Amino acid sequence: MYDLAALETALRGSIFDDKLDYFATIDSTNTHALAQAHEGAPHGSVYLAGEQTAGRGRGGHQWHSRPEDGIYVSILVRPQLPADRSLWLSLIAGMAVKTAVAQAAKLEADIRWPNDVLIGGKKCAGILVESAFAGNAMRHAVIGIGLNLNHENFPEPLSETATSLRLASGHLQLREHVLLNLLTALEQELAALNSGDDVLARFTGASTWVQGKPVSVAEEEGYTGVTCGLNPQGFLQVETAHGVRTVRSGGVRPSEL
Ligand code: BTN
Repeated sequence: MYDLAALETALRGSIFDDKLDYFATIDSTNTHALAQAHEGAPHGSVYLAGEQTAGRGRGGHQWHSRPEDGIYVSILVRPQLPADRSLWLSLIAGMAVKTAVAQAAKLEADIRWPNDVLIGGKKCAGILVESAFAGNAMRHAVIGIGLNLNHENFPEPLSETATSLRLASGHLQLREHVLLNLLTALEQELAALNSGDDVLARFTGASTWVQGKPVSVAEEEGYTGVTCGLNPQGFLQVETAHGVRTVRSGGVRPSEL
């Protein structure tokens, strides 16, 4: 159980002030947040769960949401963002998690485009952004974050590819502390986005995956190449034997070239 009173107090004066909803058990905080968005819930609403019974990941995958071990949170935002920049939200969310991991757990994380957060090559956090549009403008978006905190192990087949802050640091992590660092970092990222910050340049500096990384891309027939930057929408560019390709949705993995 979170210390909700301490969280509420620490969030005073932030965009999340008086907007925290906690569920001991829920199917998916993202599903709930999307429903609340349609009901008119305000920018900065936070939906936090102790456990999810149907946590959702990108690409239709499930998100392993064991009780108490992880942070399972969805944040509803209503940014002024043109539809063709919606991916920027995914990028800033990844940078916020990276910052929180550095500040709270003193660990250096990498971001695998668009927003898998890795420590030592293993995934410690995943982000699912789900957006709704009105014409060419974003109406709202839900930023769903699953952060592996105090897991001592993972079920198969995750054990090869997943890690937690506890496993990486050797220390138990205080959920309130990490969550507050995360929300603070996200508020700063949203403010930067609003003030015209060069998100793409910052993301390029924050991730080793954007430039010069040999990768394989699991899209349609699949292909390999070397990453060569982001396009203006934030999509990853990959130089292949047949020219530069833009990664739209596929998973990107390291490859031996
Ligand atoms: C991924 O596939 O890497 C994204 C995982 C996102 C999981 C989080 S946990 C909180 C929120 N609620 C969900 O159902 N999914 C996201």
